[in-house]
Order: sequence, then C-alpha cells, then structure tokens
Amino acid sequence: MSKNFKRTNVTTALPYVNGPVHIGHLAGVYVPADIYVRYLRLKNEEVVFIGGSDEHGIPITLKASKEGVTPQDIVDRYHEIIKKSFEDFGISFDIYSRTSSKIHHAMASDFFKKLYDKGEFIEQTSEQYYDEEAKQFLADRYITGTCPHCQSEGAYGDQCEKCGTSLSPTDLINPKSEISGSKPVMRETKHWYLPLDKHENWLREWILENHKEWKTNVYGQCKSWLDMGLQPRAVSRDLNWGVPVPLPNAEGKVLYVWFDAPIGYISNTKELCDNQNDKFGTWEKWWKDEDTRLVHFIGKDNIVFHCIVFPAMLKAEGSYILPDNVPANEFLNLEGKKISTSKNWAVWLHEYLVDFPDKQDVLRYVLTANAPETKDNDFTWKDFQQRNNSELVAIYGNFVNRTLVLTQKYFGGKVPERAELTDYDKEVLNEIVNLKSKIVNLLDTFHFREALKEAMNLARIGNKYLADTEPWKLAKDKANMQRIGTILNVALQLCANLSIAFEPFLPFSSGKLRGMLNM
Ligand code: 2FM
Ligand code: ZN
Repeated sequence: MSKNFKRTNVTTALPYVNGPVHIGHLAGVYVPADIYVRYLRLKNEEVVFIGGSDEHGIPITLKASKEGVTPQDIVDRYHEIIKKSFEDFGISFDIYSRTSSKIHHAMASDFFKKLYDKGEFIEQTSEQYYDEEAKQFLADRYITGTCPHCQSEGAYGDQCEKCGTSLSPTDLINPKSEISGSKPVMRETKHWYLPLDKHENWLREWILENHKEWKTNVYGQCKSWLDMGLQPRAVSRDLNWGVPVPLPNAEGKVLYVWFDAPIGYISNTKELCDNQNDKFGTWEKWWKDEDTRLVHFIGKDNIVFHCIVFPAMLKAEGSYILPDNVPANEFLNLEGKKISTSKNWAVWLHEYLVDFPDKQDVLRYVLTANAPETKDNDFTWKDFQQRNNSELVAIYGNFVNRTLVLTQKYFGGKVPERAELTDYDKEVLNEIVNLKSKIVNLLDTFHFREALKEAMNLARIGNKYLADTEPWKLAKDKANMQRIGTILNVALQLCANLSIAFEPFLPFSSGKLRGMLNM
C-alpha cells in the first residue's frame, strides 16, 4: 500500500448474466475478493464490498435471441440465480445489485452527459454492417461468414473460433446476419468516442511509474497496451438494449456495455449508501475522497478496461479517485480444458451447492490453494478429493478433533488451567505470532495461496505438538494431569487462532469452530 488510507472500497467484476457463475469466476475474482474483505473486516477496518450483475451488452441479447425470449427475461433469470448462489457460498457482499436498475441508468446517463458537456468525447461517423430486414446495425458477434485465414464457415465478426484469429466484420467472406440470415449492407452511423490517446501521458506515468507494485501480469499487460499506443474508443453502440445515449437525435443508440458496467460499481455503492446511510455514510466518501483506497478484483480479460479505460473515464469526469490496485488473476481451466459458458464446460456454483450441501469451505479451500494467481491453473476433481481428504480432514480437522475430544475426555470440556510452560510450549505459542505476521503480510500483498498455506501450517504445528507431547500416554498416570492440562491449553490456543487465521478463507468452518470453543 503506497499511502495510509482510511478505508477501502473493494469491487468485483460484475458478471454478465448470460449464464450462471462457475468455478472460474470464483477462483479468479470472487473468492480472493471475499478473502480480502473478510480480512479487512477482521482488522476492524472500514470497508465496503461491491458486487452486482452486468446486464447489458451483446452476450445477453445473443442469449435472448437464441432462446426466443427478451433480454429482460434472461437477466431476471440469471441475476436471481447468481445473487442467491453468491449468498449461499458466503461471498459477503455489502450489496449485490444490477445494471438494469433505475439508479444505475440514471448514474450512467449522468456520467456520460457530464463527459459530453465537458467536451471529453469526440464524435465520429463510420460505416458499419446493417441488417436491412431486421432494420438494425449488427454487432460483430451478430455477423458470421467464412474465415479469410482458415476458410472455415461460421466465423464471427470479431473472431474465428476455429483458428483463433481476431477479425473485424469486414474481413469475413460472404458475411451473413445472424438475426435475419440476410446479407448485411454498409451504412453510416455516428458514435461518441473517448479519446484514450489524449490520456496516454498521464496513464503512462500513473501506471508505469507510480504503480510498479501492481502484479506483474497486470503491469505487463498495461505496459504492452500503452506501448502499442492508445486509440479513441467508441462509448456507444447501435443497439436497443442498454442505457440510452442521453442526447437528442440518438434514438437506437445505447452506451457501450463497457462504458456503463464499471459505473455500476458507483451506482451500486450509491444504492447501498442511500439504503444504509447510518452504516456506510455517503457514496461520495467511497468514490471521491483521497483517503479511500479503491481496489478492483477482476479476471485477466478485464485488465485493460479497469486499468486504462475506466481510469480515463474517471479522470475525464474529474471528481473521482483512481484505483490503487487491480489484483487481476489468470484463468482456471477445468480438467485441462478452458472453461466455457457457451460450451457448457464448467462446474456451476448453484449446482455445486446442491450436490455438495454445506461444503462451501471445501470448494473455497481448493480454489484458493490452487488459485490462478500468477498463471492459468487447472481444477480437477481428483485434486478436490485429495485436498479435502489429506489437508482439510487429515490436518485441520484432525487437529481440532483431537484437541476437543481430549479436552472433553480429561477436563469435561472446560479449558484447563495452564501451569508452567516448557521451552517447546513457548516455541509453539511463539509460532502463532510468527505465522500471524507472515499471513498478514501475504494478505496485504494479495498472495492468498501462500497465506492459506501458512494458515494450514498452524494446524500442522498443532498436530506435531500433540504427536510430540502425547497427552494420551501421559494420562496413564494421574500425576500428569496438570501437564496434560497445560498441553491442551496450548493446543486450544492454537485452535482458537486457527479459527481466526481461517476466517477469511473458510468462514463457515471458522464460525463452527468458534461455536465449539465458545469464543
Ligand atoms: O467480463 C465480464 O464478465 C464483464 N461483465 C465484467 C464487467 S466488470 C465491470 F466493469 F463491471
Ligand atoms: Zn479461421
């Protein structure tokens, strides 16, 4: 952390609601963000945790047209599923709202208008494909044709999925509208652009000079974007689903989804603060006060939007703070294959919660132990089983179970008094302090995998302590009761500290453990 902030605003990428949430989303964004927020709350820091659904954009309208329903039907369906599954999984958002809300439409609309009035946009006319039968302009994904590189049919206007080449719609041979099947024609259309090129200088300095502490994957991606040179980016689209462009003569035009979605963080904060003003204060405090630290948790595909485009929007508006960190993760694969919503290759959260009732912490543990923090990682069910059996059960569970069973057996479930401590006892108690400072350091720097490992080491130390001191053997002689009491007292201190160390990672188990210990 580069300066002393008073409070932290933690946001998580707003997922598109064209399908439910899967383990890739969780491992990349929501689990690490939740760990971080729970950690800050444990330290009694002032924090707000913002989530919500991203309900606009082509993924939603495409899904709707495939199913023959309205975009609103789609977003209503998945918003509820996602919201509920996050809740049940223990992602402890202060608010989980949506970008189709009134508050958001007003906020995004005002934001655009302010930038427009300040002259922060340029207007440009370009030619785009138009479907004369459906009477609408076609987004890149709505145009298919033959790939000019590999000649395969059905390549999209933005990418050929066969050979992976990025395309623009005019590259396609024999383009066809996915809506009506007709051949699209070129037509002129006017849009508003954010001239990122004008922002390049300060962005370079702000990121490349002042945020060298950002994760290398994030810093590297920003550097390569900046080195390529920034271009103006359209902030509007010809579409009938989204936030209407708040200007006269702009019928049929909406804000580009990547313009309105990050403003969703602000609208959701406003909704929260309007509803719980006593607890959270004003929304401006979280977005306009230099003492607030803004942190965006996202996946790697969102880096450019959160590190370059959104900051440029905020700066252009003029009254907002900029993110202090954007700890983006890489991707999680499933059994060696890329997770895909459209190909239905995923472990869906809402299904996991049904198939593994009360096992939220097992998945939270596996996704953190195996988090794609520095490179893409793989989720396998074999690894899930192994980590459950040989780590959660054999190390954590075993230690807690033995300590509590022995305390029950010899002391009727009461915490025994501590007599004189041996050097070994002191060493073990000292380890708690050492590990705490290690874990805190790792959490502060977004190294959640390592932090989890260190938390587990506390249980390892406990198991070794019990194995070395063997209280069950000492119990053969009544004269040893005082020593056994001291051993179990030390072991119980370890258990108590385990419940704290694991609180950010395994909140359900920590809650149960605190209950058992009557903490
Ligand atoms: O990649 C996505 O799923 C986007 N819906 C993320 C948006 S993040 C933010 F800007 F809202
Ligand atoms: Zn191709």
